[in-house]
Amino acid sequence: MSLCILIFLIIPLLPFSFSSAQSLSSFSISRSPWHPSQNRTILSPNSTFTAGFQRSPTFPNLFIFAVWYSNISHDHTIIWSANWDSPVHQSASLIITSNGDLQLINGSSGPNLWNTTTSVRSNSSRLFLRDDGNLLFGTSWESFEYPTDTFLPNQTFRNTTVLTSRNGKFKFTGSSNLVYGSDIYWSSGSTLVSFGVDGRVVKSSGDPIYSADFGENNKTRRLTLGDDGNLRIFSFDPKRGKWVVVWVALLEICEVHGLCGPGYICYSDGSTLSDYECVCPPGFKRSPNSDSCESKIPNNDLARSKFLRLDFVNYSGGSNQTNVITYSFANCSSKCLAHDQCLGFGFKYDGSGYCVLQLEKLINGYWSPNTEMAFYLRVDQSEPDPSNFTGMSEVLNTTCPVLVGLPDTSDESNKTTWNIVIVSVLFTVEIASGVLLFWAFLKRYVKYRDMAQTLGLGLFPTAGPKRFTYAEIKSATKDFSEENMIGRGSFSDVYMGKLHDGRPVAVKCLKSVTGGDSEFWAEVTIIARMHHLNLVRLWGFCNEKSRRILVYEHVSNGSLDKYLFRPSHIGLEGQNNEHETDMMLSQEQKPILDWSIRYRIALGVARAIAYLHEECLEWVLHCDIKPENILLGDDFCPKVADFGLSKLRKKEQLVTMSRIRGTRGYLAPEWTKNDPVTSKVDVFSFGMVLLEIVTGVRNMIQGPSCIPSEEWYFPKWAFELAIEERRMEEILDHQIKHSYDDKVHFNIIDRMVKTAMWCVQERPEMRPSMGKVAKMLEGTVEIMEPPKPTMFYL
Ligand SMILES: *[C@@H]1O[C@H](CO)[C@@H](O)[C@H](O)[C@H]1NC(C)=O
Ligand SMILES: *[C@@H]1O[C@H](CO)[C@@H](O)[C@H](O)[C@H]1NC(C)=O
Ligand SMILES: *[C@@H]1O[C@H](CO)[C@@H](O)[C@H](O)[C@H]1NC(C)=O
Ligand SMILES: *[C@@H]1O[C@H](CO)[C@@H](O)[C@H](O)[C@H]1NC(C)=O
Ligand SMILES: *[C@@H]1O[C@H](CO)[C@@H](O)[C@H](O)[C@H]1NC(C)=O
Ligand SMILES: *[C@@H]1O[C@H](CO)[C@@H](O)[C@H](O)[C@H]1NC(C)=O
Ligand SMILES: *[C@@H]1O[C@H](CO)[C@@H](O)[C@H](O)[C@H]1NC(C)=O
Ligand SMILES: *[C@@H]1O[C@H](CO)[C@@H](O)[C@H](O)[C@H]1NC(C)=O
Ligand SMILES: *[C@@H]1O[C@H](CO)[C@@H](O)[C@H](O)[C@H]1NC(C)=O
Ligand SMILES: *[C@@H]1O[C@H](CO)[C@@H](O)[C@H](O)[C@H]1NC(C)=O
Ligand SMILES: *[C@@H]1O[C@H](CO)[C@@H](O)[C@H](O)[C@H]1NC(C)=O
Ligand SMILES: *[C@@H]1O[C@H](CO)[C@@H](O)[C@H](O)[C@H]1NC(C)=O
Repeated sequence: MSLCILIFLIIPLLPFSFSSAQSLSSFSISRSPWHPSQNRTILSPNSTFTAGFQRSPTFPNLFIFAVWYSNISHDHTIIWSANWDSPVHQSASLIITSNGDLQLINGSSGPNLWNTTTSVRSNSSRLFLRDDGNLLFGTSWESFEYPTDTFLPNQTFRNTTVLTSRNGKFKFTGSSNLVYGSDIYWSSGSTLVSFGVDGRVVKSSGDPIYSADFGENNKTRRLTLGDDGNLRIFSFDPKRGKWVVVWVALLEICEVHGLCGPGYICYSDGSTLSDYECVCPPGFKRSPNSDSCESKIPNNDLARSKFLRLDFVNYSGGSNQTNVITYSFANCSSKCLAHDQCLGFGFKYDGSGYCVLQLEKLINGYWSPNTEMAFYLRVDQSEPDPSNFTGMSEVLNTTCPVLVGLPDTSDESNKTTWNIVIVSVLFTVEIASGVLLFWAFLKRYVKYRDMAQTLGLGLFPTAGPKRFTYAEIKSATKDFSEENMIGRGSFSDVYMGKLHDGRPVAVKCLKSVTGGDSEFWAEVTIIARMHHLNLVRLWGFCNEKSRRILVYEHVSNGSLDKYLFRPSHIGLEGQNNEHETDMMLSQEQKPILDWSIRYRIALGVARAIAYLHEECLEWVLHCDIKPENILLGDDFCPKVADFGLSKLRKKEQLVTMSRIRGTRGYLAPEWTKNDPVTSKVDVFSFGMVLLEIVTGVRNMIQGPSCIPSEEWYFPKWAFELAIEERRMEEILDHQIKHSYDDKVHFNIIDRMVKTAMWCVQERPEMRPSMGKVAKMLEGTVEIMEPPKPTMFYL
């Protein structure tokens, strides 16, 4: 019945399709042969896809037989091709032989370049295209079984599915691993099962991958393995007329193995998700006869070597890496010096004891601030090159001064070494296949799934946060005792605790979380993947008997609001209680933050949010930026808290109703109007916080000395005084006004105020992106005169 209706719907379309001269609905023996010089195409019934000969993008004089989107013509997005690697001349022919074989022959004779040989043959077999982009021949050959570099919705993954990047360098195999040669550099954890039209990729373990535009069923999407080795889901944006990335396997392109040869450092400034370059480290030069870097002065006499510090560089691969756990830099460096094959070592200053010696080879080198480490490269003592990978001390100075050279607390008997191969994503083939077999075994026993996850987590530490047992959490927080409670909110309670290894933690017990166990696990995994100096680090979680608990690093100095807003305003903070505030319950007097610390806080928060928006893709919106969610660590290093939590509530619910999230005073106008909510809502909230950092007053309070009125609007007030009347000092926090020195501070405060004005613009498109905001604060881009912010109706 429904089929009949479908046919009726399609039939009127057909004459239309035929009217555009050379468009066929199928290719059959009666139309054979088909030459590339004929302008012929096959259209899918509803015209979404087209198949036919097309000029090869790599050899413009030759042709390939391909499938592409009919309407996305400007870049001819090819989703499948029969002969990408063997393009043919324009006199080539595609024929159906009298015994029912489809053959693609270059010229008049030659080998068949497109093998569709199947057991069932008939001379009535036709080549036709389905509405989902699947090209079929006869009854049993389909292009969906032989994908090239792209996967489409409605296509099913098989364990034999292989996607190959167009340059042939990278593969996606076993429906789960990205590989370079035999080197696995990314794994989805469990095999992918299907790619739905709603943008969700289902995995065999049940925890799906969601695209950023998940839930919109009429979007055109594709999953493509790029020439840079990264796997992405693209979604076509008809308004902008281009493909946008809505999911990406590796957030940092330089974590792809094999992008750069041995010795090279892959460098990406992070401004895009795909640009990178390969550079040689100082003391090294491009090797003339291979794609690698070689040292300029051979380090023959090992006794005469020194180290060059390469900030934020890591060499993550190598046949033989060992993590010598030591907290002292001197120890780490002497271990490397003592080893004949040690080419350098990676060291972290965060007190985690990370000291990895790089033996024999320097491979998979990359630069990224997220490494949070420095690599010490062994060179000859006479090497004159200075290190040009600097910037750590600058970042440490501007955002987070970290204590360098922590005392070595570990007992030397504790020099456990283990194979970093397991710790990094770089698994050896043996381990990977072992895990897969083990996984396959466990899969059969659904009741052990929980155990599988736990064990899986143990084996893939980088793939997920640690799972704590409820008993561990209970003992860490002394049975959730009242004295350990540091915050209480409608969504969660927060306790302070100490793990058995002595690490202090903040334990957040969530109260109302929807979704199943695997969804919770998936979301937590995503939150844990977000690493940034200025984001509170998620260490683990607990999910037992419907208790959902998150375990965070403990940030020592409490939240920013305690420093900005003095007790005199405390009565008015009650306005805020419509939303949780994870505040320290103790009310001890906090020191007043000076201007340079305030500036550092602003910059750190901007960078963290920019990271959430731009490196984790746009849909990781914070949605609740306010001083309560900015925690201050040692040296007042800001750390943004509470990010990603909105993901724990069902996304479908968010898409539909009860949209408003966040806190009054920090809410962008889009929340209350019916406009689409984008990353610009965070920019707005950040602008408010920025003004509060400068003025020391809560934005809902009517100024330090102002007549209350309906017309009063915080940004407008600040704009009139600071920008129109050029009386900057009028709006400054009165507590440190006296320390304001026009010469020293005007520049940074002016930048903060002007940036804030751009952020609180009523129209979202007027507000800069968070990445731009960070640059404006840094002073690396010029800030134009902001327009006056207008009040919107709350
Ligand atoms: C095919 O189309 C192209 C441009 O669309 C045109 O230049 C060419 O002459 C056409 N060839 C035939 C055989 O119609
Ligand atoms: C292709 O574009 C034309 C107009 O440009 C439009 O009428 C048609 O509906 C589109 N077809 C598809 C499949 O999007
Ligand atoms: C097809 O023939 C053309 C020229 O005749 C040649 O350049 C091309 O390499 C051939 N393609 C294959 C796959 O042999
Ligand atoms: C197709 O095959 C049938 C026999 O299987 C034969 O009778 C018929 O002539 C063939 N048609 C063509 C076009 O070769
Ligand atoms: C074509 O593919 C089939 C099945 O995949 C295979 O058995 C056959 O050997 C292939 N033929 C050629 C010429 O590659
Ligand atoms: C064509 O069919 C596909 C698959 O059913 C559907 O996703 C797409 O929206 C359809 N396109 C048009 C223009 O109807
Ligand atoms: C999706 O795949 C199924 C099974 O292969 C097929 O029956 C269905 O027609 C496909 N959907 C579209 C829109 O082609
Ligand atoms: C692929 O799956 C089939 C059945 O689903 C199974 O028989 C086969 O062993 C699997 N192959 C691999 C390499 O896992
Ligand atoms: C896609 O679906 C949404 C509702 O699900 C609708 O508002 C929108 O107009 C649709 N877009 C297109 C291009 O059909
Ligand atoms: C560092 O210097 C080397 C040459 O010594 C150069 O090849 C490389 O591009 C430089 N790297 C950066 C990040 O500037
Ligand atoms: C790794 O290094 C140790 C000693 O440092 C050596 O015994 C072992 O053979 C090395 N393994 C490989 C695979 O190179
Ligand atoms: C960072 O601070 C240290 C000491 O406080 C100073 O020596 C160094 O020059 C500073 N670096 C930069 C880039 O400002």
